[in-house]
Amino acid sequence: MKITITQLTKYYGKIRALEDISLCISGGIFGLLGPNGAGKTTLLRILTTLLEPTSGQARVGEFDVMKDPGEVRRCLGYLPQDFGFYRSLTAFEMLDYIGAMKNIPARQRKEQVQAALAEVNLLKEARRKVGMFSGGMRQRLGIAQALLGDPELIVVDEPTAGLDPEERIRFRNLLARLAGERTVLISTHIVADVEASCMGLAVLNRGRLVFSGSPEALRDRARGVVWQVEVPAGRWPELEERYPVLSTRALNGRMQARLLSDHPPLAGAQPVEPGLEDGYVYVMKVDADRKEAQHA
Ligand SMILES: Nc1ncnc2c1ncn2[C@@H]1O[C@H](COP(=O)(O)OP(=O)(O)O)[C@@H](O)[C@H]1O
Ligand SMILES: [Mg+2]
Repeated sequence: MKITITQLTKYYGKIRALEDISLCISGGIFGLLGPNGAGKTTLLRILTTLLEPTSGQARVGEFDVMKDPGEVRRCLGYLPQDFGFYRSLTAFEMLDYIGAMKNIPARQRKEQVQAALAEVNLLKEARRKVGMFSGGMRQRLGIAQALLGDPELIVVDEPTAGLDPEERIRFRNLLARLAGERTVLISTHIVADVEASCMGLAVLNRGRLVFSGSPEALRDRARGVVWQVEVPAGRWPELEERYPVLSTRALNGRMQARLLSDHPPLAGAQPVEPGLEDGYVYVMKVDADRKEAQHA
């Protein structure tokens, strides 16, 4: 399933949430990365036909989200960022209800609900009340409802927020498995959520697209600008002020850190092979510098 976004802009009153976004998304897992307020939810709500853009176009498969919203809805399943739950329903009852809302005929519904529960490994919990579920189980149930109707495209908005590390890993594996035959579009502010599995990535910041391409290409953006340094703890504040810090480790009164810098930040600094997170931090920094330069 291919998604084509062309010069998409969205204002909420005077607030510009998306600015001239053009992007192509196809097959497998696609990661939409960005900090809070970047515009991720806005973009996903436009693609799922829940929100109209101020200008520009978006197509899901062969359908335009503005002209054919019904057709677009039929080919996608959506897990919103705040998925409301009917706490006193059982998992089965809830999916049966959502299936009915999606116009799945009663004859097929039971089978489809069971298949969806099986796919997210919740079949054994089908008769338990949703209110008793853990965060990880709830998100898996959220995926199960998105799977009803067997859509080609699954859209999930920050699905790992609030999960503990173990649930997070299980959830990532589930998405990777589902992406076999489908396109999965996932938004997150956590690079590790998409690091192992996605084929394509887009990074949004302040409503603008600051990167799109492969994970390797994002990593490459930070090539030559990541340094490992080690200094006495007393010298750290001065370095911290001068350079963007990727990570730190304190040991025996010394500070070990990874920094971003166009040149060696100090004698003895070691150049380091960049990771995906480094690339992400770097493109965000370039965008922040650009903004500063505009305002100077
Ligand atoms: N309904 C709304 N009314 C006004 N402003 C909004 C609304 N929804 C989002 N925004 C603003 O639009 C920007 C993008 O928000 P959002 O799409 O939720 O970003 P993200 O999902 O990346 O955190 C933010 O500045 C946010 O405050
Ligand atoms: Mg959001």
